[in-house]
Amino acid sequence: MSKLMKKQGSAGIFIGLIVVVAIATALIVALLANIAERKAEGKSQYVRIVEVTEDTTDPAEWGKNWPKQYDSYKRTALATKTTFGGHGGSEALPEQKIERPEYHWLKRMFKGYAFSIDYRDRRGHAYMLSDQEETKRHNVKQSGSCIHCHASIMPVYRELGDGDAMAGMKKTHAMSYQEVNKMAHDMGHGHPVSCVDCHDPDSMAIRVTRPGFIEGIQRLAESDAPVPAIPSIDIWRQGDKKTPYDPNEDSTRNEMRSFVCGQCHVEYYCSSDFPLTFPWGNGLKMDDLEKFWDETKLTSGDRFYDYKHKETGAPILKAQHPEFELWSQGVHAKSGVSCSDCHMPYQRDGASKVSDHWVRSPLLNVNRACQTCHRKSEQEILDLVDNIQQTNYKLLLRGGEALNDLMDAVMEAKAAGATPEQLNPALEFQRKAQWRLDYIAAENSMGFHAPQEAARILGEAADYARQGQVEALKLIKH
Ligand code: HEC
Ligand code: HEC
Ligand code: HEC
Ligand code: HEC
Ligand code: HEC
Repeated sequence: MSKLMKKQGSAGIFIGLIVVVAIATALIVALLANIAERKAEGKSQYVRIVEVTEDTTDPAEWGKNWPKQYDSYKRTALATKTTFGGHGGSEALPEQKIERPEYHWLKRMFKGYAFSIDYRDRRGHAYMLSDQEETKRHNVKQSGSCIHCHASIMPVYRELGDGDAMAGMKKTHAMSYQEVNKMAHDMGHGHPVSCVDCHDPDSMAIRVTRPGFIEGIQRLAESDAPVPAIPSIDIWRQGDKKTPYDPNEDSTRNEMRSFVCGQCHVEYYCSSDFPLTFPWGNGLKMDDLEKFWDETKLTSGDRFYDYKHKETGAPILKAQHPEFELWSQGVHAKSGVSCSDCHMPYQRDGASKVSDHWVRSPLLNVNRACQTCHRKSEQEILDLVDNIQQTNYKLLLRGGEALNDLMDAVMEAKAAGATPEQLNPALEFQRKAQWRLDYIAAENSMGFHAPQEAARILGEAADYARQGQVEALKLIKH
């Protein structure tokens, strides 16, 4: 009985095994067929009419393969205007920011630096190279580092570095702007940011190319600063860290949708003393960046500064468009909402989804940029943004007046005979106040990217400015 059962049992197992193997084989065959099909789909998703390579910087060539994205990309040449976004002025040139009466303190705080000569509203990507070529900031000699964010420059970097773009970039700070710009045009790469700067020409995957960003984000990964907006850095930190954090390998696709913009929309150092630097070694908060600069030394051995203020002599830190950094401190970044979600939203095009390459203010596009997530009327959303921006604007102007009063007080103290040593505490407050004020003035969302953080920074700006004013006034005998 038990023997029979055993026999029957093993026959059963045998048959069962055959069935399992058959099913598994069928599944594997189906899977392989499916993969082959997907691969074919992946390839046929884009009909390639022309071959594009790492050296194809002309967007019109890519446009032959991807006409929908190219069409929207070309619209960045159109003028846009919202209450605080886009630009005023003529189509020939955007309006001067520094000439607006309410920004009188802006022009004054840049005295001694090229930004007091020419500082305009930004406009669409199509103009980035020509606007840079035309700015009167070139009345002062500018370094070759400038072009990092204004042209499709990678082939020039590779040429300068014998194939190594990072090495090539590190030569450009010692060259003049005109020299590097001429190379770009002579080699046929005189284009604004182009498809190849954000896309792998073989796979079309989004990627980052800019050496400044790659080095900056590695520096951030190697620090122990919290990075709630970039979870892949935490994962890399938990690993063996044998190879540096590589944004193109280690990040998520969602992070890449912000990284591509972080190649340029960031605070940086860009002059002739040392190579282009993104100051992220202590973290992405305003205070972390300030600490990084305070710890940096110029080749002269002095503590880092961008310029000495022409009237007061304070060693000033110039802030530049920290969109990536401010965004990283806001609720959207922490909820995984990327730059592209708002500035390059999907649009339906028949059966396919196309990312809008007309990069511009999302307020011109609330339906696709915001209402996909926020179930509120367009007007309600616009009112919410306006409330945030007007609050920020008021704080900004108050900070500006406070800084102006500080500079007045320092000039009075100087006239009354105060020595540089005596003035030092007031000038240190000027450095701290101006850095904070400029950080939010130069950031282009008028506080929207992180409203509470922007308010904190402006609150500190006004406080430091008033403390500096008090220090200067103490030096005047009444
Ligand atoms: C949740 C949506 C959202 C996200 C995410 C976002 N932005 Fe914005 N951004 C806005 C809004 C709203 C404005 C204000 C537009 C205005 O005033 O017209 C703005 C303004 C800007 C401007 C100025 C626009 C203009 O027309 O002058 C730039 C540049 C910008 N953002 C870049 C970025 C970058 C870079 C990132 C990612 C690091 C980012 N933004 C993330 C919504 C967003
Ligand atoms: C790390 C990237 C980066 C570097 C390096 C850089 N820029 Fe820009 N530049 C930008 C971005 C982003 C904007 C648009 C946002 C804005 O205007 O605030 C811009 C805007 C401009 C504008 C138009 C608005 C204005 O300021 O009048 C000019 C002109 C300009 N840059 C010139 C220069 C010059 C000259 C240099 C070298 C000293 C330089 N840029 C270096 C990223 C960069
Ligand atoms: C290679 C550098 C570079 C990259 C990459 C880049 N930008 Fe820009 N962006 C600029 C410069 C420079 C300007 C200013 C051009 C000018 O004023 O002539 C600008 C302008 C803008 C504006 C103002 C448009 C307007 O109509 O006023 C917005 C918004 C913007 N960028 C958002 C983004 C977003 C979002 C991304 C990522 C998807 C991105 N940028 C990627 C350099 C860059
Ligand atoms: C500043 C960076 C940037 C530039 C420059 C850029 N793209 Fe894109 N592109 C993106 C982002 C971000 C996406 C969304 C990718 C994703 O979510 O995976 C995208 C998506 C695409 C896609 C995939 C389908 C879609 O629409 O989502 C194609 C195709 C494409 N871009 C073509 C182009 C072409 C052609 C150019 C030049 C004319 C170009 N791109 C320039 C950032 C850029
Ligand atoms: C991909 C989804 C997504 C998109 C797109 C998006 N948001 Fe949000 N937004 C969120 C999330 C998540 C929060 C966090 C609070 C919550 O859960 O409502 C938030 C919060 C906010 C807040 C309140 C928080 C604050 O910053 O103080 C405002 C205002 C806001 N969004 C406006 C906008 C506007 C304007 C746009 C379009 C330019 C936009 N959002 C696009 C997801 C999104």
